[in-house]
Amino acid sequence: MNTAPLRPYWYPVARADEIGDGPMSTQLLGERLAVYRGKSGRYGAFRDLCIHRGTPLSLGWVDGDELVCAYHGWAYAESGQCTRIPSLPEGRPIPAKARASAFPARERHGLVWVALEEPVSDVAAFPEADDPSYRTIWTTYHWKASAPRVIENVMDFAHFPWVHPGVLGHREKPVYPDVAIERTGGGFAYTVDDEATNAIRRYTVSLPLALHMWVGRRGAAGPAAALAPTTAPDERITGLFFAARPITERETMFYFGHARNFALDQADAVWAERNTSVTEQDRRIVEAQRPEELPLDLSAELHLKGSDAPAVEYRRALARMGIEAQPGSTS
Ligand code: FES
Ligand SMILES: [Fe+2]
Repeated sequence: MNTAPLRPYWYPVARADEIGDGPMSTQLLGERLAVYRGKSGRYGAFRDLCIHRGTPLSLGWVDGDELVCAYHGWAYAESGQCTRIPSLPEGRPIPAKARASAFPARERHGLVWVALEEPVSDVAAFPEADDPSYRTIWTTYHWKASAPRVIENVMDFAHFPWVHPGVLGHREKPVYPDVAIERTGGGFAYTVDDEATNAIRRYTVSLPLALHMWVGRRGAAGPAAALAPTTAPDERITGLFFAARPITERETMFYFGHARNFALDQADAVWAERNTSVTEQDRRIVEAQRPEELPLDLSAELHLKGSDAPAVEYRRALARMGIEAQPGSTS
């Protein structure tokens, strides 16, 4: 996969609660990063390499809003500019080339996001996570799979009766109604009226690697009523959010956000365990799919009208972004 088209987008690199007083080492699209939270609460993200002697900046420490290298104490501001070289005698200037490669970083929905180039779109929306009447939890998973494969699996619902029987679907009800794909500014959306589990699921895909899913009960008035913003406050709504961080082309960190406006007194661990057991059911399939990279040439696999419409739209959209999958190895 050529990763250049993926660089100007936001990706989660950590949960905000994973970042403590010091910098954290992480990886995005093959690039090793040092990410830290400064005293002011703002985030900094650098290529994890000090220009002086190649020491990972993630070995250093945070001083105010700056990151200090562990080897000779050079300090770098959020912009990447070196602001202090302790060994320089009085009056000798800091060389102009003394910089860290800095990337845009910010916190949103409880995650820390980084883009490797000036981002062309905003962090994908997760409205329930910003709504105090919901309780939001995050679980994260490390998959040996390509990120587009991971996200395509989330938009696929025809696998529910087979991979998640009794949880998300029922084998005696394998047929889903056709979905209509609606193009949006940052991707596309569709609604699945699922009689089998009495749920309405509204999917919003934010290219390239995020997806929000609104899940409500199937009301007697049908999906339009269930989706209206006037939804009764006692309605049980779940907001799900999925974002993939490509660690490399074939390795992914999968961030799963789950927001509920009911069972608020129930232990979060119960929900986290449920999300993990469902996600594990998917992992054994997705890690085994071949080729490893999502085939963007539509003739490479067989697509069914109806249930495969989101996947077809997704593959076309990634191809339009200029992404090319490696048909290559099947190892
Ligand atoms: S290697 Fe970073 S300050 Fe010398
Ligand atoms: Fe699944």
